[in-house]
Amino acid sequence: MKIVVIGGTGLIGSKLVTRLGEHGHEAVAAAPNTGVNTLTGEGLADALAGASVVIDVSNSPSWEDDAVMEFFRTSTGNVLAAEAAAGVGHHVALSVVGTERLPDSGYLRAKVAQEKLIESSPVPYSLVHATQFFEFVAGIADGATEGNTVRIPPVLFQPIAGDDVAQAVGRVAVGAPLNGRVETAGPERFRMDEFFRGALAAVEDPREVVTDEHARYFGTELSEGSLVPAGEAILGEIRYADWKGQAVKYPVDRPAR
Ligand SMILES: NC(=O)c1ccc[n+]([C@@H]2O[C@H](COP(=O)([O-])OP(=O)(O)OC[C@H]3O[C@@H](n4cnc5c(N)ncnc54)[C@H](OP(=O)(O)O)[C@@H]3O)[C@@H](O)[C@H]2O)c1
Repeated sequence: MKIVVIGGTGLIGSKLVTRLGEHGHEAVAAAPNTGVNTLTGEGLADALAGASVVIDVSNSPSWEDDAVMEFFRTSTGNVLAAEAAAGVGHHVALSVVGTERLPDSGYLRAKVAQEKLIESSPVPYSLVHATQFFEFVAGIADGATEGNTVRIPPVLFQPIAGDDVAQAVGRVAVGAPLNGRVETAGPERFRMDEFFRGALAAVEDPREVVTDEHARYFGTELSEGSLVPAGEAILGEIRYADWKGQAVKYPVDRPAR
């Protein structure tokens, strides 16, 4: 099967291209530096010619509210139109568990807009909602840092390894379109404040994690279940404590603060 991976040079996209290729598919990475720009439409029709499936794991270069909305609306609209013209039979997109529960986040409002475009398009689709990637843990800590303090609410948190996300998305992509959504999360559920206390201590990060039930997560207050799957989910296999990426997060490749 020819499978085009929009954002195929990114974190999840590059893992998907490798994985799908290993399973005998013709996996094509589509991104600006492979000549495909979904904002301008450049290279899109050529990339999609003969494709059975398109997986969209692209991300906006800017997370500013208006910029991210513009990115997901324009890019998704262009991709869906090109798929309809090329006769693509399955559009798969990666989104975030809890998008619709956190409307105060500009980023998640943009992901909801992306999902609505997909749901109202004639192209058969599957939406995969993932929890926070292990690779994003350092970014969450940085976003919650004031001075030497990291303020984190005591809500449920179930992060997942990027490799497990790629596996779940790849499996959905080679199956029949769900015309609905599926959720995926890591194998363990934590309290978010306790998780960060342990994760930072494990790499001797000097910042102190303070439990704060009103601490904002990228602009939005969280409640107990905002970030975790509401029901049944595809669970990843990799535990955070066993994940190789954590040891290099700090202080090896980061300046001391
Ligand atoms: N971070 C999390 O914890 C989390 C959780 C759940 C879901 N997600 C979702 O997962 C998805 C993938 O995230 P990621 O971290 O793998 O992203 P990433 O590493 O930032 O990669 C983004 C990809 O999008 C491409 N891209 C950017 N602008 C483009 C354009 N105009 N046309 C075509 N491609 C473009 C990039 O290409 P270049 O490298 O050439 O710029 C890159 O290949 C996102 O949609 C995100 O919402 C993230």
